[in-house]
Amino acid sequence: MNSSISIAQAQTPSQCTVVIFGASGDLARRKLIPALYNLRACGQDVAPPKFAVLGFARRPMAVEEFRATARTAAAKFSRLELEENCWQEFATGLDYLPGLDQPEGFRRLKARIEETEAAQGLPANRIYYLSVPPEAVPECVERLDSAGLIAKPGAANFTRVVVEKPIGTDLASARKVQAILQRYFDESQIFRIDHYLGKETVQDLMVLRFANTIFERMWGARNVDHVQITVAESEGVGSRAMYYDPAGALRDMVQNHMLQLLALIAMEAPVALDAAAIRESKLNVLRALRPIPPSQARNLAVRARYGAGTLDGEKLRGYLQEQSIPATSQTETFVALKTYIDNWRWSGVPFYLRTGKRMPARASIIYVQFKDVPKILFNREQSLPPNALTIRIQPDEGFSFEVLAKRPGLDIALRPVRMNLRYDSEFSGPSPDAYERLLLDVMSGDHTLFVSAQFVEKSWEFVESVLDQWRDNRAVPMHEYAAGTYGPAAAEQLIRADGRTWMNP
Ligand SMILES: NC(=O)c1ccc[n+]([C@@H]2O[C@H](COP(=O)([O-])OP(=O)(O)OC[C@H]3O[C@@H](n4cnc5c(N)ncnc54)[C@H](OP(=O)(O)O)[C@@H]3O)[C@@H](O)[C@H]2O)c1
Repeated sequence: MNSSISIAQAQTPSQCTVVIFGASGDLARRKLIPALYNLRACGQDVAPPKFAVLGFARRPMAVEEFRATARTAAAKFSRLELEENCWQEFATGLDYLPGLDQPEGFRRLKARIEETEAAQGLPANRIYYLSVPPEAVPECVERLDSAGLIAKPGAANFTRVVVEKPIGTDLASARKVQAILQRYFDESQIFRIDHYLGKETVQDLMVLRFANTIFERMWGARNVDHVQITVAESEGVGSRAMYYDPAGALRDMVQNHMLQLLALIAMEAPVALDAAAIRESKLNVLRALRPIPPSQARNLAVRARYGAGTLDGEKLRGYLQEQSIPATSQTETFVALKTYIDNWRWSGVPFYLRTGKRMPARASIIYVQFKDVPKILFNREQSLPPNALTIRIQPDEGFSFEVLAKRPGLDIALRPVRMNLRYDSEFSGPSPDAYERLLLDVMSGDHTLFVSAQFVEKSWEFVESVLDQWRDNRAVPMHEYAAGTYGPAAAEQLIRADGRTWMNP
């Protein structure tokens, strides 16, 4: 059967102007411009919304130069091949303005937006995408307000603001960012991005769990032995030392992407498919997440940084030898931890989380191992490999289910076999990029795939309890692992102490 069942979207995208604050930056070039081009490109399965794009940054740049840079970026990073007619149509709605660092620049921005709307026949619906360093966010928001660029919620036309991760660097600073945003915007106007939530496979987690009886009935302490989440990166710190060294793996990955995956894999069925219900279910997972107690920080959370090593035949230097990393750095590039979700469904089931840079591959997986069958029939004499569900978030998107089968023959011999779904062979065409999905949702006013203020706070609370220990308790060691491996021996020990092993992607 290859017919598909469409689920009606609650909202449709509105005509609007998207202002990219920080339009000369890396995120705008690699992700936002290509995603916006793809939304407008021909042949999409949803009607392309009508919108103008206005780039806003500090440096002076002619509109032609901005369009040329955007074209190069779209040609390189767009999911769909650049098609001349589509590009020309898109480019006519593409504009640029400097002055992001001056109050006067915001007054010019207001005038330019109004001109654009008049020229293109667009309503005064505005999306401000804050693709600027986190420290620039408060000033941007205050200047937007001073320039009269923020409409009240419920006004005839909407104003929406999109904020990127990281939201704060700890709980206190995250609260400050939230306070600034909430002073000028209503919660309904704020969209906090975690681009993992826009990934096709991450969206599929809910379908897998709640559109199939087979998994949901087995989901919980009665049947699940343990869950692992691995987010592996093969890259090192590269040129991002300024951002990465003050952050580290726990802040960069666990606080956002990994806790989002954990929430989606562990949450209860929401009462409806709307943003409020889904966010509530996810938040309840974090409410039940057991904090790592100070006395256990050493046993339940492993930190490490990569040393020199080899990956794909290339010799790699260690983290401390990377450009612009201080010799005294205490930043972890790897973290592994074990935690529990203390609710009815998951009581007693360990969740192991692991992420690191300079691992052998770039891959994110969720591995759910089921409990052994009773030792009565086939496994009376010897233990059998467990059933397991592996969800591949990226790359090679899909999932596989490991079961035991009888090997054909006159004897009785069992062999693990894999039922495997691969998106690329089951469905045609590449999946939309996460930013396409998320930008379309902002245009539609749909918060389902965005992070709530409460989730940000709860996730910082969890992560901060570990960070405090690492800062205050020098007895918690900083391990080292060779670049090109899956982490230090201590991370193996963390899981092996429970008689389990990590599943490498
Ligand atoms: N790059 C990614 O893959 C990625 C992924 C996830 C989240 N993010 C987040 O997205 C945001 C943008 O990242 P990015 O990588 O694009 O940064 P970037 O390459 O450094 O670009 C920053 C942009 O903001 C402007 N800018 C820099 N400092 C500013 C300041 N003090 N005040 C006002 N504007 C300033 C720059 O303008 P001029 O160039 O004109 O000076 C530039 O357009 C950051 O919050 C980052 O954490 C990025």
